[in-house]
Amino acid sequence: MNELSMKESFVTAQKRDGKMRPALFLGLAFVLLGPPAHAPAQPAAPDVPSLLLGAAWYPEQWPESRWDKDLQLMEDAHLHVVRVGEFAWSTEEPAEGEYKLDWLARAIRLAAKHRIAVVLGTPTDAPPAWLTSKYPETLRVDAGGRRAEHGGRRQFNYADPLYRKFCAQIVTKLAQRFGHDPDVIGWQIGNEYTDESFDAGTRRQFDDWLEAHFVTLDALNRDWTTAYWSQTYGRWDEIPLPVVANENPGLLLAYKHFVTGTWRSFQRVQIDAIRKYADPRQFITTNYGGLGWSDRFDHDEVARDLSLASWDDYVGEGHLNVARNGAMHDLVRGFKRNNFWVMETQPGSVNWAPVNTTLYPGETRAMAWQAVGHGADAVLYWQWRSALNGQEQYHGSLVGPGGEPLPIYAEIGRIGSEFERAAPAIAGTAPKAQVAILHSYDSRWAIDFQRFNRDYHQLSVLLGYYRPLRDERLTVDIVNADAPLDGYKLVLAPDLNVISPQLAAHLLAYVQQGGHLLLGLRSGMKNEYDALNAERQPGPLVGPLGGRVVEYYALDAPVPVSGALGTGAVTLWAERLSVHAKDVKVLLRYGKGNGWLDGYPAMITRRADKGSISYLGAVLDPALMDRVIAWATSGADVKPEFEAVPAGVEVCRRVGADRIVFVLINHAKTPAHIALPDAMRDVLHGGSVTSVELKPQGVAVLEIATH
Ligand code: GAL
Repeated sequence: MNELSMKESFVTAQKRDGKMRPALFLGLAFVLLGPPAHAPAQPAAPDVPSLLLGAAWYPEQWPESRWDKDLQLMEDAHLHVVRVGEFAWSTEEPAEGEYKLDWLARAIRLAAKHRIAVVLGTPTDAPPAWLTSKYPETLRVDAGGRRAEHGGRRQFNYADPLYRKFCAQIVTKLAQRFGHDPDVIGWQIGNEYTDESFDAGTRRQFDDWLEAHFVTLDALNRDWTTAYWSQTYGRWDEIPLPVVANENPGLLLAYKHFVTGTWRSFQRVQIDAIRKYADPRQFITTNYGGLGWSDRFDHDEVARDLSLASWDDYVGEGHLNVARNGAMHDLVRGFKRNNFWVMETQPGSVNWAPVNTTLYPGETRAMAWQAVGHGADAVLYWQWRSALNGQEQYHGSLVGPGGEPLPIYAEIGRIGSEFERAAPAIAGTAPKAQVAILHSYDSRWAIDFQRFNRDYHQLSVLLGYYRPLRDERLTVDIVNADAPLDGYKLVLAPDLNVISPQLAAHLLAYVQQGGHLLLGLRSGMKNEYDALNAERQPGPLVGPLGGRVVEYYALDAPVPVSGALGTGAVTLWAERLSVHAKDVKVLLRYGKGNGWLDGYPAMITRRADKGSISYLGAVLDPALMDRVIAWATSGADVKPEFEAVPAGVEVCRRVGADRIVFVLINHAKTPAHIALPDAMRDVLHGGSVTSVELKPQGVAVLEIATH
């Protein structure tokens, strides 16, 4: 799928200063939670604000005589960071081995004059024409066997050793020149890693990769059950690069790991080149694309070699989906379990949606503050100014082709001045959660290889758990299933399909240490090879749970469900559970439905020492999901982090060593009045307040001292 169709498919899916007396519960929450465990992702240079607004700037597209004017307009809008260079290879190396970097040095100096720091992109997403013409093997081959042509971007072969050599050379030149530049605060490698290659060389690498991982063909044949459909392999080079969706699930999962490893090694080549010359203070990131939810590779694993996670946050057509977008921020924060950057976001509109609508006035600001509330330390707009030609002429920008500010410029300038005012309060703070939702690319892949119900969408299932938690004003971490869990009171695994013995042990240790674990449907069905666990869900956790899934059913009509947690309806997916330990409680049972489910348990729970393990085998309606989450949070002693607020008001919390900062955003269409539990400092307007009035799209940033 190319970048455009990926964005489009998402859009289609969418359719359907003063010290204050701390309020008692805030103080209490702080005592309970302690200071944040992770250092916020602070920009490296000491004179750079700790909260940054910026834009993607392409000086190579403009006469140098114009740069100062653009940078002045940025300064006027309180922008303090630009990302430059990520598509500038043909300007940086116009002919093979001929490097021209003086212009970039001048651009960086001029930006610094305007108090604007620089993130330097490596240009490897768009190789120059001399390279792809002379060395066509560096061009990727698509699943249909067609080699890419020059003229777009992402046309490179990520696995090709020669292409990687060229990448290392240009990145080395950049690092030698800018690795000690005081105004370069970080590096972005490539741009939105997207497309794989299906050429013969990559296939050989896949076969080698398989051999390194499985060691023997006997092991591979066993773990993939290749006797099925006569798939047994007698030589490593018989194993295909999967280009079709109905390949063996074990092969498909292994291929995803190979793709992840290949992106990681592609990135590693550049990290090594940068780190050899660059100051350690310069961070290294890459901007994840795919609207946050892409699973082309394991983003968590690829982020392990980065010092900072960042992503590109686009709405596309329509308007901000508050829960979805918040969850994507939390997912990205989970990659490094630290604050992150929004490396790109839309200034009003994009150019790639079916209908490129514009965000409402104020919505761009609400989105920027939502990002900060969820842990972003920087928000950058794509792009500063429309290029006169090139593929994205219609895209939103801050200034037009003639260099004049566009209507959105004023709103972004307001955000910039607010970020400046808020930076001291935000410095050193990070979201701190009592609750984690487990996320796993293995599980996502395994489910999507075989959805069973066409309408089963994992993001919707995740949001089914996430939304009620956010409605209860709780910070939520979305973390990899194997992340340390000891800091969480409650861990939710909406559909953790793949549970290896190691992961089962990790989850069990959490429960045995007093943690509360709620597993959702399809959990523990598969092992690490995407083979069925012989014991039905939750596989290796059946013993501790004292119950199991007997059978699963894709639903085409709702089934009633009721019990201690209330009454509601199940749609899409229902699992009939059985109980085989006396101390297991049935919380929900199916009513009359498809006959197979009638009267059987839908949700069970069992205490385990101080902790508990529960299993919910159904997709519940939102009202009943509210009750399930209320039950789970109260059982795990999870405390709300803010008092109740009117519907549509989002509450975000960042905790520092001596303060808590709340970001309140009114996403509703009506004004909201919010009485505060105690006096707080109004960070944006100054002074102490005991209540705030938020217009639609209104934002309040409130600070309270905790020492
Ligand atoms: C991103 C990409 C940018 C620009 C933007 C337009 O995916 O990284 O280079 O194309 O989309 O929305």
